[in-house]
Order: sequence, then C-alpha cells, then structure tokens
Amino acid sequence: MSLVLQRQSIRKYKDKPVEQSKIKQLLKAGMQAPSANNQQPWEFIVVDDRALLDNLSETSSGAWMLKDAAVAIIPLIMTGDRSPKFAIQDLSAATENILLEATNQSLGAVWIGCYPKEERYKFVEEVLNIKKGHPFSMIAVGYPDEEKEMKLRYDEKRVHFNKQ
Ligand SMILES: Cc1cc2nc3c(=O)[nH]c(=O)nc-3n(C[C@H](O)[C@H](O)[C@H](O)COP(=O)(O)O)c2cc1C
Repeated sequence: MSLVLQRQSIRKYKDKPVEQSKIKQLLKAGMQAPSANNQQPWEFIVVDDRALLDNLSETSSGAWMLKDAAVAIIPLIMTGDRSPKFAIQDLSAATENILLEATNQSLGAVWIGCYPKEERYKFVEEVLNIKKGHPFSMIAVGYPDEEKEMKLRYDEKRVHFNKQ
C-alpha cells in the first residue's frame, strides 16, 4: 500500500527519543515540497526540549499530545510585504510531506493546525520567541504507541468527469 494510504494521525507515543538522522529526513521531506514559483516560503523549528513541548501542548485543546511527543517540527510561514500569495498551499504541502516521511520512517505524527488562527500562532511565537514568520502548523512526532484501524475514504459520489 502506498504511503499516502498508510498515513494516519498518531497521537500516542512511546517514551523513546527520535534519532537525529530521522528528524533530518523529515526536514528534507518538508523542504522537498512543491511551492508556487519554487518560492519555498518556509523555515522550520525543531523542538525536543521537554519543558518547551509541555508549554506548546497548551497552544490549543488539540495540542495535548505534545506532552508525550519526542519532538515537534514547526514549519514557519514566512510572511511579509512581498508574501507569496500561495504560501498557505506551500506550507500545507511541506506539512503533508513531513507526515508522509514520518510514516515512511515508522514514526507516528499528527498535524496540529496553527496559522491563520492568531491566538494559536501568537502563543507559539511567544513560547519560542519567534521574531520572523509565523508558526503554520506543529507536527508532533514520536514512536507510535497506538494502532488504529485504517478506513479508506475513497467515495465514488465525490468524483465527477467533465461536469459536476
Ligand atoms: C489543517 C489541519 C489541522 C489539524 N489540526 C489538528 C489539531 O489541532 N489536533 C489534532 O489532534 N489533529 C489535527 N489535525 C488532524 C486531523 O484531525 C486528522 O487529519 C483527521 O481527523 C483525519 O484523520 P487521519 O489524519 O488519521 O487520516 C489537523 C489536520 C489538518 C489538515
């Protein structure tokens, strides 16, 4: 089965660190994403400090799993006066690439949405003292400690050929 069909949100993790070599593969996958005009409007923050992860788990009600994650990868959307109009799509592609590579590395991961919810990305900026760009998402990563049933979502009714 392809990686796309294997990927699931994993929110429970073993108490085991993730190797630096694997984190590098995740970052490589993120930076390999397509982006409009190849602008790559991103930077990435890797958080593996327990106290910071605990703080970040308070970002929203959907970020609790960071308490047990070994690491969080936080893609930053580099906004500014000449902000690329497609930056949200670019960063979404980078986030998904990281999730797929996590699956490839037998790691568990989940996408935690931040941008454009101001109360979320500002909270993360304060915790990590971010001065440039905004946290787009947080990807919690760790060795999986849950198994979930895979449900395929393909739905013929949502497919249209040549007209809706
Ligand atoms: C933009 C976006 C934001 C998300 N935010 C959260 C979140 O804050 N917390 C969380 O636990 N999951 C979050 N998710 C994961 C979704 O809940 C998950 O992808 C969805 O339930 C489908 O499950 P699956 O990933 O296992 O296929 C987010 C996913 C996306 C694409």
